[in-house]
Amino acid sequence: MANSQFSLKGRVALVTGGGRGIGAGIAVALAQAGAELVIADYTMALAEEGCASVKAAGGKATALQVDVRRPESVKAMIASIEMQHGRLDVAVNNAGIVSLGSVTELTVEQWDDVLDVNLRGVFLCTQAEIDLMRKAQFGRVINTASIAGKTGFPHLSHYSASKFGVIGFSNAVAKEVAKEGITVNALCPGIVGTGMWRGETGLSGKWALPGESEEASWERHQASFLPQGVAQTSEDMGQMCVFLACAPHVTGQAVAVDGGFSL
Ligand SMILES: NC(=O)c1ccc[n+]([C@@H]2O[C@H](COP(=O)([O-])OP(=O)(O)OC[C@H]3O[C@@H](n4cnc5c(N)ncnc54)[C@H](O)[C@@H]3O)[C@@H](O)[C@H]2O)c1
Repeated sequence: MANSQFSLKGRVALVTGGGRGIGAGIAVALAQAGAELVIADYTMALAEEGCASVKAAGGKATALQVDVRRPESVKAMIASIEMQHGRLDVAVNNAGIVSLGSVTELTVEQWDDVLDVNLRGVFLCTQAEIDLMRKAQFGRVINTASIAGKTGFPHLSHYSASKFGVIGFSNAVAKEVAKEGITVNALCPGIVGTGMWRGETGLSGKWALPGESEEASWERHQASFLPQGVAQTSEDMGQMCVFLACAPHVTGQAVAVDGGFSL
């Protein structure tokens, strides 16, 4: 998006879970639009991987370790950004996990793990980010939800609960900060071929029919779920984040990038 309308030149942008997958794609897109990136991930090695992707695309990035479930870890991340940059303009709270189980199979641990990263993590990050953004009366918060935050999927009730939560939370906070130059939106990816979907431990591996290969399962899910019949990419998610980061009057929305799946 090398268009002045979509320029993030001079902006500082944070992406959590930015080491790989969708987060890395978003980080690269924000950097290509001119932002300076902070990549935060569960391990420093992952955060460094995300930085390498941004640098390979010609951007600037620094790495931070964070566990989005832990308030003190999130506060340390934001304090480090304030010390290094003095500001935070764009924050993409993207770290997330998934697991599978029918409602009677789900363990309390599975429920807590998914809710802790996907919803508590988004709460803790948004809270700390808004504290800093308020000082400049400017900010763009983008919380990664999902199409599973717009409709329920069997065997993903805990994941859907977390992502519906992200959408409701983002809409409520958007209204709290609407007069302070801060927008808050939720991004709802459809199906993206990251580690969450691909391989034997990803959703397409676990949802393969008896005798069906993971690759065939991946093809079947794209064709059967998505009106356009093809998966979305991390670049698609990056494009929407650049738009949301540049749009002053789009707030409180749950924007799907899902090939026509949801309303
Ligand atoms: N892949 C899809 O099709 C899809 C669809 C809808 C929504 N999403 C959402 O998009 C986001 C990114 O998913 P992805 O597909 O890139 O998955 P991924 O597993 O490739 O990436 C998730 C990232 O989050 C990080 N993370 C996990 N727990 C963390 C924690 N406690 N603290 C800090 N970082 C942590 C991981 O280390 C990883 O880098 C997630 O929120 C996911 O729920 C993905």
